[in-house]
Amino acid sequence: TSARIIVDRDFTVGPVPRRLFGSFVEHMGRCVYTGIFEPGHPSADENGYRQDVLELTRELGVSIVRYPGGNFVSGYHWEDGIGPVEQRPRRLDGAWHTVETNAFGLHEFAGWAKKAGVEIMEAINLGTRGVEEARAIVEYANHPGGTYWSDLRIKNGAPEPFGIKVWNLGNELDGPWQIGHKTADEYGRLAQEAGKAMRLVDPSIELVAVGSSGRKMPTFGEWEHTVLSHAYDEVDYVSLHAYYQEHEGDYASFLASSNDMDRFIEEVISTVDAVKAKRKSTKQVNLSFDEWNVWYQTGLDTEDQPHIVEQRGIWREHPRLIEDTYNVTDAVVVGSFLNSLLRHGDRVTIANQAQLVNVIAPIRSEEGGPAWRQSIFWPFARMAELARGEILRTAATSDRFESSEYGDAPVVDVSSTYDEERGRVAVFLANRGLDESAEVTVSLRGLDATQVTRAEVLTIPDGGDRFTANTESTQDAVGLTRLEGVAIDEGGELRATLPALSWAVVEIA
Ligand code: AHR
Repeated sequence: TSARIIVDRDFTVGPVPRRLFGSFVEHMGRCVYTGIFEPGHPSADENGYRQDVLELTRELGVSIVRYPGGNFVSGYHWEDGIGPVEQRPRRLDGAWHTVETNAFGLHEFAGWAKKAGVEIMEAINLGTRGVEEARAIVEYANHPGGTYWSDLRIKNGAPEPFGIKVWNLGNELDGPWQIGHKTADEYGRLAQEAGKAMRLVDPSIELVAVGSSGRKMPTFGEWEHTVLSHAYDEVDYVSLHAYYQEHEGDYASFLASSNDMDRFIEEVISTVDAVKAKRKSTKQVNLSFDEWNVWYQTGLDTEDQPHIVEQRGIWREHPRLIEDTYNVTDAVVVGSFLNSLLRHGDRVTIANQAQLVNVIAPIRSEEGGPAWRQSIFWPFARMAELARGEILRTAATSDRFESSEYGDAPVVDVSSTYDEERGRVAVFLANRGLDESAEVTVSLRGLDATQVTRAEVLTIPDGGDRFTANTESTQDAVGLTRLEGVAIDEGGELRATLPALSWAVVEIA
């Protein structure tokens, strides 16, 4: 396989939005309890935050974390999670058939976010609740003091406002599974009015309207159009959610699934801009891809599947839910999703991988036991660290492969950034060929970078196969190793050989 890539200093997409490297903590399964929070764990600090998970979160390079859901938020009372812990109510969470103890709430999350060095993206409940609660939580979180809600926050131990900038106006309300599911008209009006009331409390906030829960939703397109017809002037972003998996050995479609992510993004941009044009508006609404990942849900009947937990009819605290184990193939696909997001970074300015720990997550942890990195940790961590400055347009010609679900796709997938301040170019590459290595040349125009400062690759380890994964006992089976033989010739052309099924990063200074 061969691929030829051209990048040019003068052809840029825009600045790298730091919020592209976001993650998601939901009160679901073991993401919060025994994930980020486990009082009594050997690594827990005085607040019950697991230091091992905190360290991995910092290493992952996460910039912003969405909280507290997800489907969970559509039945959640945020007030249950504030005040003295022993007085907090135990509630049934219908979304995940779980008993919520409320031992962890807004203050605990804000404290954790500070330690992790991440911005908070707070979702409000527009499933069972409305305008009144929406403005109350903004007053509680962001108003300095001297009012009912802000003084209650101070009384509960936070004299300084949390200063939360980004707010999700609900979650997946287009989905019939959602508690408080709505039509686009119902939701659009509610989002507009809740957003207005929230902004009257704090005009500096940024609001995300619920978009489609997936490109395959029957209401996709129509939903965004109707919602924005009501709420365009009030909101700053519309959300997208997408999860992909390998179905019955169709690895070609799975490896090509970033084609679908590209299309999804471009279709939402078209819909948003159609509303803008119709209104003759000068305001731009951007995209918040606030749930994306690989997951293995369809067709599974294992103990950690939500429908099995529900069928059993047992209500438990933090049961294991969708704790997917990720392999080499998944890491390459996740790398191609990150490329897709970065290539669209002029419009997708927030993105959150779902989720952070245990639940479809790059980090896993066991109760009382260790925490470790899954294979998908690596492309995220390196891109979060090295994608700095400007996103470069990539002109790429690659051999292509066929897939039944998403059409044909380039074998080599790429994105690139240029950090003028540090004089560094980063190139992120995925070789989606299962059997063949790929000879790649990158022509670096107008960029006087001559030294390869880093070349790393994630691929099938010796003795493994494409299904090799990191588990509690083989924690570092899949990781990054040095990519040998990367060279730049005198004409400024970079040459690299990518092993079959691999994700690689090359940094040049
Ligand atoms: O991330 C898991 C779940 O997937 C979220 O709660 C929901 O929003 C989506 O359907």
